[in-house]
Amino acid sequence: MKINVITIDGPSASGKGALALGIANIFGFKILDSGSLYRLFAYFLKMKLSSNEIADQIKMNIEFNKSNEKLIILHEGKDITSELRSEEIAKLASEYGSKKTVRDSLYSIQRNFYDGNILVADGRDMGTVVFKDAKLKIFLTASPEERAKRRYIELQNRGQEVNMPALLADIKERDLKDSSREISPLIPAEDSHLIDSSNMSLKEVCSIAKNLIKKEFI
Ligand code: DC
Repeated sequence: MKINVITIDGPSASGKGALALGIANIFGFKILDSGSLYRLFAYFLKMKLSSNEIADQIKMNIEFNKSNEKLIILHEGKDITSELRSEEIAKLASEYGSKKTVRDSLYSIQRNFYDGNILVADGRDMGTVVFKDAKLKIFLTASPEERAKRRYIELQNRGQEVNMPALLADIKERDLKDSSREISPLIPAEDSHLIDSSNMSLKEVCSIAKNLIKKEFI
C-alpha cells in the first residue's frame, strides 16, 4: 500500500530543500530534510560520540523548527544550522553516508517522521529506499555549474568564505561519491518524475510539483 509521502531526491544544491520547504509551506505539510540527519551524524562524530550516542542525541536533543524561509536545527536549544551547512560537514556527511551502519542507524529515525499525515521528504534515497512506498516521487536535478552557483550564493549569504572553482570540484566529487556508492546510491526511483531545474526558477519548479501533488493527493 502506498503511503502519504512526497519524496524529493537529487544531487546536492539541486534545490531539493527549497522545493520541499516551498511545498510544505503552501500545503501545510510536515517536512523531513534527511541530509541534515547525515550532517548531524558528521557533526556529532567530530565530537567523538559513538553511533548509538549519536542516534540518541538526534532522537532526544535535536529539534527541527520550520519557519517560512528555512529549516532551523537546534541542539539543546542552540541554533547549529550554519555549522551543519558548512562544506566541511557536507563532505563528512557524504563520506559517512556510504557506510551501512550509519544508514541503518538513521533509517528508523527517518521512517518515524511519517505519522500518517502528508510528509515531504528530501534526500538521496527517499524514493528508492526509505519511502519506497511513497505516493509521489520527484527526482530534481540541475547541471553541476548551476548547482555550484546556487551553493556559492547560499554560502555567501551565510557569511562563509567561498571559492567557486573549489566549490564546483567539491560538488562533482560529492556527486560521484553519492551516486557510485554501493548502498543506497543516488539514482532516480523508477516511478519518479524527473525535473531538470537548470533553467528554471524555484517558482517554476514549485508550480510543476504543485500540479503533481494536486493530481495525487487533492
Ligand atoms: O542534502 P545534503 O547536501 O544536506 O546532504 C549531505 C550529504 O548527506 C550528502 O552529500 C550525502 C548524504 N545524504 C545521504 O547519503 N542520503 C540522504 N538521504 C541524504 C543525504
